[in-house]
Amino acid sequence: MADKEYTDPERMEKIVSLCKRRGFIYQSAELYGGLNGCWDYGPLGVEVKRNLKEYWWRRNVQEREDIVGLDGSILTHQAVLTASGHVGGFSDPMCDCLLSKARLRADQIEPQSGVAYHYNGATEGEWSVDREFAVLLREGQDENKARKTAKQFYAQFHPDKSLSPKALELVGESTTEEEGTTRFNPENGSLLTEAREFNLMFRTQMGASSNEDDPNAVAYLRPETAQSIFTQFKNVLDTSRMKIPFGIAQIGKAFRNEINPRNFTFRSREFEQMEIEYFCRPEDGLRLTDEWLEDRLTFYEQIGLPREKLHVLDVPDGERAHYSKKTYDIEFDFPFGCQELEGVAYRTDYDLSKHQEHSGKPIEYFDESTKEKFIPHVVEPSAGCDRTVLALLCEAFHEEEVTDAKGKTELRTVMRLHPRVAPIKAAIFPLLKKNEEQVRISREIQRNLGRFMNVFYDETGAVGRRYRRQDEVGTPFCITVDFETLGEEDPELKDTVTLRHRDSMEQERVAINDLLPRLLDEIQ
Ligand code: GAP
Repeated sequence: MADKEYTDPERMEKIVSLCKRRGFIYQSAELYGGLNGCWDYGPLGVEVKRNLKEYWWRRNVQEREDIVGLDGSILTHQAVLTASGHVGGFSDPMCDCLLSKARLRADQIEPQSGVAYHYNGATEGEWSVDREFAVLLREGQDENKARKTAKQFYAQFHPDKSLSPKALELVGESTTEEEGTTRFNPENGSLLTEAREFNLMFRTQMGASSNEDDPNAVAYLRPETAQSIFTQFKNVLDTSRMKIPFGIAQIGKAFRNEINPRNFTFRSREFEQMEIEYFCRPEDGLRLTDEWLEDRLTFYEQIGLPREKLHVLDVPDGERAHYSKKTYDIEFDFPFGCQELEGVAYRTDYDLSKHQEHSGKPIEYFDESTKEKFIPHVVEPSAGCDRTVLALLCEAFHEEEVTDAKGKTELRTVMRLHPRVAPIKAAIFPLLKKNEEQVRISREIQRNLGRFMNVFYDETGAVGRRYRRQDEVGTPFCITVDFETLGEEDPELKDTVTLRHRDSMEQERVAINDLLPRLLDEIQ
């Protein structure tokens, strides 16, 4: 059983660094100091992301008769998100550090114990400030630290900004024992403001209205892809002749003004979701939730996340979203801890009922066989695309010592990405770039394979170095065109190449004509 508390910050640092160095993921607007919580996928990252989305779509839409797709707009009508409860309630509790002004998620602050030092204010000569403040000291910390922090806090109010905080006299020091408190900043011990609700949606203006509060001009960037599926449920039903149970799938961007974006792309402000709303009869909701959970776990294994690193959390009563009767969180062992990848939620008939009520238009389903009219219930497997890419990269990253033919050992960095999601499926090398025939054949292989998959041609440096470069970006196969390909050493080997496998580093001879079926078999 894996330790769910285990973290490995050093490994995470190496992954983030490789992602930048090799062009998987960059900080958005890095040139201008970065846009917090936003990321750009580079030439290799975009391939991994596309492969993931395409496989998800193929498996959930194209290979199934009971699911159809949708691509809804990102800009969302205020009425939609009012009906769904997002305008009134999609918020996180937020508080601010009184000293550093850092903004924290109140529900993510670890409870702390210690002695709180309270003050009523401070003076300096004629000047005084009358305001309550407190500092928490953990066991073993010197009480002078509390005084120093308090003076820094009060110095903010002094008109002379160059004054040293040491010059202040503190007023009314008293202490209390604190057990499991979340009222103090774990970073510096400073008192926090009271928690208040912060709506996570990005609000924007539509059109050229000059009135910011004109209700007709207000729109939101969607916080989940699900709502356009609910609001288009009737249209899809009427135009596609689907019968319950059936699903509507969507992949697309969602936006949340997260208070604390963190852990690389894990919690971003702009991210992509892959969601299915699977509509069913009420009596089938709980059973289908369990079935979807199994199906989703299988999906993750099929893209290379091992079952033993996936954990299922049966979210207890009181912790589920207000609309859900049952929710499973699928969690993964990231280097920064075991964290949610996907939620599989039984949303009952909450959303469709709310949209029927608020729009005043019927959204019921008529069952031909039973002649019944009812609002369908829904099971929602909702996966994060960026989180899954991050899980794939974290799982793939390996460093290992290898010994070359001359007995020299070196550190090999290898991304063991599943061939399905690997950004480059095969790299093609002529052994010698000066050999015109080897180059011609290599280019021809590149052209032929390139019609079916992403391939890469490289002729610079020793072949060993070319292998290492590909290992580091997760290319599962390297194809080398050499003198044997030309039939110069053994006529029987003419038109064969060396196929080198990334993980085992084993090499085999394969006929050029067999390359395409061999590779397609591995990557599909
Ligand atoms: N429609 C249901 C829904 O949106 P959610 O649990 O809030 O449920 C679903 O989000 C998934 O979207 C999460 O499991 C996660 O993978 C992804 N996700 C949510 N917030 C995210 C964020 N700030 N950054 C990256 N991914 C996020």
